[in-house]
Amino acid sequence: MKKLEQLYEGKAKKVFLTDDPDVLIVDYKDDATAFNGLKKGTISGKGVVNNRMTNIVFQMLEKKGIPTHYVEELSDRETAVKKVEIVPLEVIIRNVAAGSFSKKLGVEEGTKLLTPTLEFSYKNDELGDPFINSYYALALGLATQEEIDTITKYAFAVNDALKDYFAQANMELIDFKIEFGRFHGQIILADEVSPDTCRLWDMDTHEKLDKDRFRRDLGGVEDAYQEVFKRLGL
Ligand code: TMP
Repeated sequence: MKKLEQLYEGKAKKVFLTDDPDVLIVDYKDDATAFNGLKKGTISGKGVVNNRMTNIVFQMLEKKGIPTHYVEELSDRETAVKKVEIVPLEVIIRNVAAGSFSKKLGVEEGTKLLTPTLEFSYKNDELGDPFINSYYALALGLATQEEIDTITKYAFAVNDALKDYFAQANMELIDFKIEFGRFHGQIILADEVSPDTCRLWDMDTHEKLDKDRFRRDLGGVEDAYQEVFKRLGL
């Protein structure tokens, strides 16, 4: 497979065309942003961690029947993926109160939720990814009801699989964000699953092992990514 010109550069990844019209190459950067790009920085080695972690997680999810865009890892930062049309919804699942949920609802961070929750944000940087519900998504034509049902089913299945996967490495999955794409009419998991997109706390100490260390200036950002890499045996 031949890497051709750059198609797009996002906040954390570059995307390249290939000689196969169904395949793109993503190249994970060490750049980090938060608060819709307001805060900028570098997390040394992050691209390597996020590339490998996403690929291992996506292969594990495939085995559990969740289709993903994963094709082949090409190097420590580059992966071939299926070229999808991204559904402009950020899908967030929460197991424990944290972040915007805690702030909005006045629930202390770390409070276990009685059931996992699912929410959508409209993926639109200009608007700051506003919170929407499935009626808004339908009304705006962002996805069909059938697609929303599939996305919902897959998102909870991803949560079940990830909770177990991280628990084996003594990490609790607090919440995470995933994105889906359309590939020849089918909904498949796309984007990434990494410490950028998950909240992971040490099971015993509740130490944060994710991008919140960068968002909140907690220090030890690189070490946290390396710790996740090591614990998962990546
Ligand atoms: P939140 O509590 O800030 O809404 O974040 C929920 C989860 O989604 C958390 O694991 C971090 C992740 N997330 C992203 O991956 N990208 C984003 O732009 C935001 C706001 C959150």
